[in-house]
Amino acid sequence: VTRAAAAASRALAMPIRVLILGSGAREHALALAIADSPLLDALFALPGNPGIAEVATCLPGNALDADAVLAAAREHRIDLVVVGPEAPLVAGIADALRANGVRVFGPSKAAAELEGSKAFCKRFMKRFGIPTSGFEIFDDADRAAAHLRACGRPMVVKADGIAAGKGVVVADSVEEGVAAIDDMMRRRSFGEAGARVVIEERVAGTEISFHAVCDGERFVTLADAQDHKRIFEGDRGPNTGGMGAYSPTPFVDAAMTRKIVRRVIEPAVAGMREIGVPFTGALFAGLMLGAPEDDGLPSISVLEFNARFGDPETAVLLARFAGDVLALLDAAARGRLDALDASATAVRDDAALAVVVAAAGYPASPRVGDPIEGLAAARAVEGVTVLQAGTARRAGELVSAGGRVLCVTARGGDLPAAAARAYAAVDQLRLAGSQHRRDIGARAGLAR
Ligand code: GLY
Repeated sequence: VTRAAAAASRALAMPIRVLILGSGAREHALALAIADSPLLDALFALPGNPGIAEVATCLPGNALDADAVLAAAREHRIDLVVVGPEAPLVAGIADALRANGVRVFGPSKAAAELEGSKAFCKRFMKRFGIPTSGFEIFDDADRAAAHLRACGRPMVVKADGIAAGKGVVVADSVEEGVAAIDDMMRRRSFGEAGARVVIEERVAGTEISFHAVCDGERFVTLADAQDHKRIFEGDRGPNTGGMGAYSPTPFVDAAMTRKIVRRVIEPAVAGMREIGVPFTGALFAGLMLGAPEDDGLPSISVLEFNARFGDPETAVLLARFAGDVLALLDAAARGRLDALDASATAVRDDAALAVVVAAAGYPASPRVGDPIEGLAAARAVEGVTVLQAGTARRAGELVSAGGRVLCVTARGGDLPAAAARAYAAVDQLRLAGSQHRRDIGARAGLAR
């Protein structure tokens, strides 16, 4: 054993004080997994939620406020900050923390541009040969509209910056695309995020989510998953943050995983290093899988990269992760994924399925303040974890406080078993006017 390797394994064995930034089901899933780790010394969340508060000390504040986060990290002698959502990353929270000697799981502001700027992401993919649809970038609304009319076919219009998941319009007609350009570029519905747009070709196929945990140089892949973005069953209605997910999908076998790694993950991690912005954190590729190619495997088109874990994907990915999540995230933050052995990153050969319970009125105008009942009965269902997102405590009572309220996650030997458990738990819950989809996993052949 070299001296450096011995030092690395000693460092990896030190008890770790962790601060999680965020307040959703993704952060609750991370908190539960981290709380299970023998490496943990103390766990904090900012701001967290009532579910997270069962395993962590929740600190008041806004994760976008770098000064407040730094002050919390100092006061609580935090070793590692795990950043959940994209907004603080794109705003540069990881840089501020690292500059003050705090380890961070999450990319720098420059590396988070993979998610923070669609134009950056598309140019990056083109430069490094990562498969993605054809595109043009516009800073001028007239030129963008003229381009769309010249194309004369349905295209995708994307606001360059982050727009809370609403900045992508898959236009069915030229008129719809032009209306999206007006909305983003002239009316600035998403503020400066829409000052620039990307217009790209539509691609057909099956959309899946693929995650890799990166340390700037190396990566560890997690399982594949599929999100359900529309509010209504049958993938109808407006887009949401995600109404449910499952893993594994029937679309990605071992050979397809290798293809995704070779065509997408490896060139992305190597490309970011090459341009001087190594990526440390969760790299989440949204992929469209199309018709089989000469290799017999589906084609791949990268729809987008996200610079953080997906939500609700994280619920099912962590449910199947057999290793120590804190060891994984800390090794990534140290740039030492090579110090983990294979057992630390294994994925179980089972299945997980998550159903989001959303508030009345979600996604347009979620109603808040409704009491949530039946939580204990839902949690009592075997293999089920009820993750909290938009919840709050009001006079001791748990009430809804956001659009996506709960994320009911179940493990099972296979997808039907996981689905049966998840829906058995959902059926125990009572939240006035709430919405959930009964068809999570339908594309994997699960009957409704
Ligand atoms: N579920 C999709 C996302 O997290 O962006």
